[in-house]
Amino acid sequence: VEETYIMVKPDGVQRGLVGEIISRFEKKGFKLIGLKLFQCPKDLAEEHYKDLNSKPFFPKLIEYITSGPVVCMAWEGAGVVASARKLIGSTDPLQAEPGTIRGDLAVQTGRNVVHGSDSPENGKREIGLWFKEGELCQWTPAQAQWLRE
Ligand code: GTP
Ligand code: MG
Repeated sequence: VEETYIMVKPDGVQRGLVGEIISRFEKKGFKLIGLKLFQCPKDLAEEHYKDLNSKPFFPKLIEYITSGPVVCMAWEGAGVVASARKLIGSTDPLQAEPGTIRGDLAVQTGRNVVHGSDSPENGKREIGLWFKEGELCQWTPAQAQWLRE
């Protein structure tokens, strides 16, 4: 089953947007299977964003992600990776559509409040990176029959 790694970045935590951001995925109907507040160490940030390590903004990105606690989440559901990316909106919040998290709540790429995995493979990879075994919960939401026929 498809899983995605969603993270409220340090600016989202500092700005008090944690509840709002969790709420959007919760209301949509995806299943939360992991959740924690966490101070990210530098090596983990570098591993998470390793595909971007040749970019000029990489040092600033690592500084940003490790600058305060983040909220780590694992969400599950058919189609959750692409749908979460749509809910999050474009990387540049000024280009992100109103109604999306970045479109509604952010103004700059370097402070875009939330992360979402870009493929099902990366969803699994990132959940493995950020969560230990035993931190994820398998459960049956009571509303399941009202979400899917
Ligand atoms: P994530 O969900 O965080 O992975 O964002 P994304 O998939 O929309 O964008 P991408 O993976 O290309 O970049 C990862 C993160 O690096 C972005 O969310 C930004 O926080 C940061 N970033 C990307 N491009 C730039 C840039 O040009 N300048 C700065 N300062 N940060 C950037
Ligand atoms: Mg990305």
